[in-house]
Amino acid sequence: MIRRIAVWMVQGIGFLMMGVILAACGELYGGKGQEPVPELVLTYAENQAEDYPTTKGAYKFAELVKERTKGRIEILVYAEGELGDEQAVVKQLQYGGIDFVRASLSSLSEFVPELNVLQMPYLYKNSEHMWKILEGEIGDEFMEILDGSGLTGLSWYDAGARNFYWTNKPVQRLEDIKGRKIRVQESEMMAAMVEALGGTAIPMTYDKVYSALETGEIDGAENNWPSYESVRHYEVAPYYTVDEHTRVPEMQLMSQYTWEKLSPEDQEIILECAKESALYERKLWTQRSEASQRRVRSAGCVVVELSDEEKARFQAAMMPVYQRFCADYMDVIERIVEAGEENRGLR
Ligand code: GCU
Repeated sequence: MIRRIAVWMVQGIGFLMMGVILAACGELYGGKGQEPVPELVLTYAENQAEDYPTTKGAYKFAELVKERTKGRIEILVYAEGELGDEQAVVKQLQYGGIDFVRASLSSLSEFVPELNVLQMPYLYKNSEHMWKILEGEIGDEFMEILDGSGLTGLSWYDAGARNFYWTNKPVQRLEDIKGRKIRVQESEMMAAMVEALGGTAIPMTYDKVYSALETGEIDGAENNWPSYESVRHYEVAPYYTVDEHTRVPEMQLMSQYTWEKLSPEDQEIILECAKESALYERKLWTQRSEASQRRVRSAGCVVVELSDEEKARFQAAMMPVYQRFCADYMDVIERIVEAGEENRGLR
């Protein structure tokens, strides 16, 4: 008899546990037995096209987060600037209206001016040098600088080097820039850089550049190979001058407001997925840069490579920009330059 009671009890507990598990699954899977119902749906703003490396990085990030939170957190990616231009979405990030943004440091430095240090003209020798800095102590220090700005830095994304391009004639020498109207990002440092080269800086959001080039409102602009190709600026500004005046890193950011609402475990997952998505983006970046170069060259664009001598003249013209934007950070600049010396010989 006692044995039978024990068996009933064990069976009873078994049924009870099964019930709890089924109820939990029912809740998690919305009762449909298929897609889990997320507990938290977050938004992600990206201003590039769907097939662009940073957008693909965003989708990878969303996929990883969904997988590792077992569907509890879902991230909806809005590409092509659907949620607004870069500065507008960063403002919304500060108030928690948007949860994630991938943005260029040029836009971000208007909110956190110290970030200008990492996008100074001719600062990095090459891509390896930049990654050594971003992935090292200095990169971490600058991520922390964001604390208190309403923004939480998650990871660094690649955006290559930026070059100038022109609607009507190529630039081969510094003097050729004189008096040309050049679109810049809404960044004081970028405007100062163009002025230091003798041009007239016209700040403008990314989405307005194509028509400004087409109508002649501006004579040129500057961007990396994938952007030049992706938003088809090469169609209306076919002269590309490879001067690599600056490497502007990009960041994946989260609203500090949303970040603080997450448990430490979920914060850990978000960080880990952001870093993994960044590695993925970097791989895509290299492939797309090459493909974009091929595409624009075969479309007939005229590509002018600056001689080393001429590049050195561009570089020398940047001194006032360093004095104006980095006077308080010369120690960091020196650390960056020194790290580049150790990199000598790398591509
Ligand atoms: C790059 C960058 C964008 C930025 C754009 C610009 O394409 O990835 O985030 O908006 O430059 O020049 O405005």
